[in-house]
Amino acid sequence: MQTKLVVLENQEQKKTVLQEATQILQEGGLVAFPTETVYGLGADGLNSEAAAKIYAAKGRPSDNPLILHIADFETVNTLAEGISEDAWKVMETFWPGPLTIILKKKEIVPYGTTGGLDTVAIRMPSHPVARELIRVSKIAIAAPSANTSGRPSPTTAQHVMQDLDGKIEMILDGGKVGIGIESTIVDMTREEPMILRPGYVTKPMLEEVIGKKVAIDPAILSKEGMEGIRPKAPGMKYKHYAPKGDLSIVTGEQMEKVIEKINELVEEKIKEGYKVGIIATDETIKQYKNGTVKSIGSRADEVSISGGLYSILREFDDEEIDFIYSEGFEQDDFGQAIMNRLLKAAGYTMIKV
Ligand code: TXA
Ligand code: MG
Repeated sequence: MQTKLVVLENQEQKKTVLQEATQILQEGGLVAFPTETVYGLGADGLNSEAAAKIYAAKGRPSDNPLILHIADFETVNTLAEGISEDAWKVMETFWPGPLTIILKKKEIVPYGTTGGLDTVAIRMPSHPVARELIRVSKIAIAAPSANTSGRPSPTTAQHVMQDLDGKIEMILDGGKVGIGIESTIVDMTREEPMILRPGYVTKPMLEEVIGKKVAIDPAILSKEGMEGIRPKAPGMKYKHYAPKGDLSIVTGEQMEKVIEKINELVEEKIKEGYKVGIIATDETIKQYKNGTVKSIGSRADEVSISGGLYSILREFDDEEIDFIYSEGFEQDDFGQAIMNRLLKAAGYTMIKV
């Protein structure tokens, strides 16, 4: 299969491209598109055969359910039932945006999309290209992240090409995405809503809207949790992306100590003949002496850090780095989502100084 990579240019060309994408989706094919979090790999979510192609292209286990992407609030009623007041409040506050909601599914949603579950994950993305594709096609688009299973989620169209070239019909190139890590998932079928995957929309933000406590799935908070308890979002149980290089996160109260430790570790590994990479920040990058040093973003802007996370890991893979040392980040609110992804990539290896 030839994968068509298209950059959306002017109004006229965009119309033609979106019509072509619609036709692919209607015929049960696959179109990757940008969202504000990561690129998604889209198919008609109400067509089991089309959804099956997503699993095949990604090499994804078939019990891992997909998120349905919609563009207007009325569609929620066609896909889900028993929707609580709180659920509506949350949707109205954070949609369109980086939040996925778990609701009880209606019969129209096939088990092929929900991985056999009676619940369905729904999200209304805010990215203009995603919104236009959903609007023009009038399809509830099932879309996981557009990476090969086990690789970091794609934050550029080129990342999607690296993983899925020749396996899907089309990629809509909308440039680099903003947030860079996947949406928050909140289960609104429970009396006490529960965050199943941390993301840009945080626990305090949700609590402020519904005026009551929101739980966090204990399985996502620690390695111990991962091993002991089964996470409620099936996708969170899979061993996530691990870079080819051995990644360790160095944390500590004092940044100077962290930098000193990383410099020390890097020097050791270089002496042993290894290629070593450092995940630094704009604030600290100049203080590293050896190795391949890259800045993930600025500590003054958390979204620059989440936005740089997956691409920096892909770059170190491309450069065949043997050992990677990363600075750690605050684990409060959005920082928790960033550290959740970084810790998974590191297999939970933390060095405290
Ligand atoms: O930001 C995002 O959410 C991106 C963009 C493309 O929208 N999508 C994404 O999809 O991250 P994916 O498939 O990579 O992750 C979906 C997660 C998985 O962990 C899956 O197990 C969980 O959502 N999930 C989906 N439906 C569920 C359900 N009914 N109950 C519990 N977890 C569910
Ligand atoms: Mg994914």
